[in-house]
Formats: sequence, structure tokens, C-alpha cells
Amino acid sequence: MRKRGLIPTLKVIWHEYAFDSKYSINTRGRSQPNPHNVEGNNVNSGKEYQGYSYYFFKIFMKNLPVNFSESAFIDFGSGKGRVLIMAAEYKFKRVIGIEYAEDLFKESLINIRSAQFESEAIEIVNADVLDYQIPDIANVFFFFNPFDEDVMDNVLNNIDASKLKAPRDMYIVYTSPTFESCFNTRGYEKVFELNNGAKNEGIIYKL
Ligand SMILES: C[S@@+](CC[C@H](N)C(=O)[O-])C[C@H]1O[C@@H](n2cnc3c(N)ncnc32)[C@H](O)[C@@H]1O
Repeated sequence: MRKRGLIPTLKVIWHEYAFDSKYSINTRGRSQPNPHNVEGNNVNSGKEYQGYSYYFFKIFMKNLPVNFSESAFIDFGSGKGRVLIMAAEYKFKRVIGIEYAEDLFKESLINIRSAQFESEAIEIVNADVLDYQIPDIANVFFFFNPFDEDVMDNVLNNIDASKLKAPRDMYIVYTSPTFESCFNTRGYEKVFELNNGAKNEGIIYKL
């Protein structure tokens, strides 16, 4: 609240409760995955689970210049599935989540079932993001504080390689940005940025 200010903070809190109860899901709170049930070799680079703000997600979607029904969305580090359920509300053609922690992956399956989206609307993969092959149609990539800079840089390498293989407009929604230099050195274009008081809530890049 110190950085963001009172009004945005209250809106964030209200949305937390409203959205979880709308879908009868539980995506609140923070948790550390069980390190023995994590796919891949990047457990030491991973951040704890925390669901992204419903309130700010809506603002980023409003400023994303894509046709949702023709776009495929990927959440890198999808946790309990909150962002996937929000993205499904926007009727993306495909919504994909990648989560390396088995316990969180299982919770996301339960949440998606409770939210009653058709089973094919959301696809979740229990894998390390670096072992995931980005499909040629994916064009919107979402990050909410999932991992350290080394993994982030390698995921961006994979996104760049995917664009080279199948050229298309791509957008990255990078929320709570901490490793902006990874993005700036690649020459991505900033098309939207949201600041609240002293807090940078996120950036949309076009590739
Ligand atoms: C801050 S949470 C964000 C959750 C979700 N995107 C949301 O906003 O609701 C970060 C998530 O990334 C996952 N994660 C961290 N490193 C990962 C990796 N290398 N591969 C896949 N998932 C990872 C964590 O387990 C955690 O669930």
C-alpha cells in the first residue's frame, strides 16, 4: 500500500474476494511448492506461489492490442490457475499454463473444474518452462514474478526462437517487472506501461 496508494490497494483486495467467490475457487494466499515434487532443474530459481491481481489483469487485457478469439495465451508459472481462468473469460482461442510444482498443478486442475470452463478451454502442463516447446500459434505471453533472471532470459530466448521459426506479432505482459534489462536489450517495443504511485505494475511489450 505504501508504494501503490490507498484506492488501488482497496480495489485489489475487493477483487481478490469477488473473483474467487464468483467461480467457487481458492487461489488466494502464498505458498512454497514441495521441492521434491517439482519438474526440471530450476527449483532454486523459482519464486513462491501468489496469484496475480484480478483488478490489474483486467487493465492489462484492456490495453492488449490483439483479437482475443484469434490469439493463444501462455502463463509461464501458472500456479493455482487464477490467471488462466481470467484469460479464459476473455475467450482466447487457446489458454495454456505451465507449472512445474505438482501440488500447485493439481490445485489448478481442481480450480478449473470448479470454475466450470469447458475442459478443452484451458490446457495446463506440469513441466519446467524451459522444457516446454512454445506452439507456433502462441502470441500472448504472461509473466507474474515466476522465476529469477537466468530462467527468464532463457524463456525469452525460446520466445525469440519461436518468432523466428513462425513470424507473427507477439506480446509479452510482464507484471511486477524486476528484470527489465532482459527485455530492453532485445529491443522489444513498450506499447503500454502502468504505474501506480511508486509502483510499476507492469509493461506490455510488442515483439
Ligand atoms: C508468483 S506465482 C504466479 C502464479 C500465476 N501466474 C498467477 O498469477 O496466478 C509464480 C509461479 O511460477 C511457478 N514456477 C516457478 N518457476 C517455474 C519454472 N521454472 N517452471 C514452471 N513453473 C515455475 C511457481 O511454482 C509459481 O506457481
